[in-house]
Amino acid sequence: MNIDLTGKTALVTGSTQGIGLAIAEHLARSGARVAVNGRTAERVDEAVSKLAGLDVIGVAADVSTEEGTAELLRQLPAVDVLVNNLGIFGAVPPMEITDEQWRTYFDVNVLVSVRLIRSYLPGMIERGWGRAIQIASDSAIVIPAEMIHYGVSKTALLAVSRGFAKEAAGTGVTVNSVIAGPTHTAGVEDFVYQLVDKSLPWDAAQREFMIKYRPQSLLQRLIEPEEIANMVAYLASPLASATTGGALRVDGGYVDSILP
Ligand SMILES: NC(=O)c1ccc[n+]([C@@H]2O[C@H](COP(=O)([O-])OP(=O)(O)OC[C@H]3O[C@@H](n4cnc5c(N)ncnc54)[C@H](OP(=O)(O)O)[C@@H]3O)[C@@H](O)[C@H]2O)c1
Repeated sequence: MNIDLTGKTALVTGSTQGIGLAIAEHLARSGARVAVNGRTAERVDEAVSKLAGLDVIGVAADVSTEEGTAELLRQLPAVDVLVNNLGIFGAVPPMEITDEQWRTYFDVNVLVSVRLIRSYLPGMIERGWGRAIQIASDSAIVIPAEMIHYGVSKTALLAVSRGFAKEAAGTGVTVNSVIAGPTHTAGVEDFVYQLVDKSLPWDAAQREFMIKYRPQSLLQRLIEPEEIANMVAYLASPLASATTGGALRVDGGYVDSILP
């Protein structure tokens, strides 16, 4: 299969590191012109320099604010591929999640995506081609007790994707979400070493972590960001033209279900 995004412009929100950076790289390697986004010019420049040689531009904007979104739209008024990757997560005991935390998670993990879909979808529909892809999580389905606010926000994102896919029905524009499972990012690596023997090499450490703390995973290792990016690049491509309104799993079998 040849994933060819030549001539397409893509935006990946929250892409100065982790899964977002891997997605930006994959889309650019597939021929797209990719906008990398983060909150500060320094971090965005650093990410752009990691992707030297690829057609990548940087857009520093805090998309969790209306002003930041306005700035992003000023610099990037249209895209063919929108990847709503930005998402925050953190553990809070269920009875201690405050109203403010609930609102923040809804704002950042749901409303930012809705706002960007609302901004870019009409142009995609007008041009008769486009892709909107939201990065959800296994926590959307397997709600963690210590991250109910996060899980709920990701469940909402699945609904957002399904709903906007209906809005784009029959237009050549597809809208999907990707259910990412536990993934090897810098933050998660630190987290693993908080729980297992620090002297273990990475492969053994992550295996012990997965077997002890994430026994539902059929993969029994963390997912690499590139493995999520492979699915996103496929969904972004013309090859995925008949896949819309779906939630596609790259979760290492974490969610104990045949569907979605
Ligand atoms: N890691 C996992 O195991 C895992 C599992 C399932 C799903 N996911 C989902 O995958 C997505 C990416 O996760 P990750 O672990 O790769 O994230 P991460 O390492 O925490 O990176 C977050 C990115 O978002 C940027 N960012 C944060 N706030 C922003 C804002 N207001 N405006 C613009 N950019 C902002 C950060 O850039 P700056 O700091 O430079 O602003 C950074 O590039 C999230 O939606 C997450 O829920 C992750």
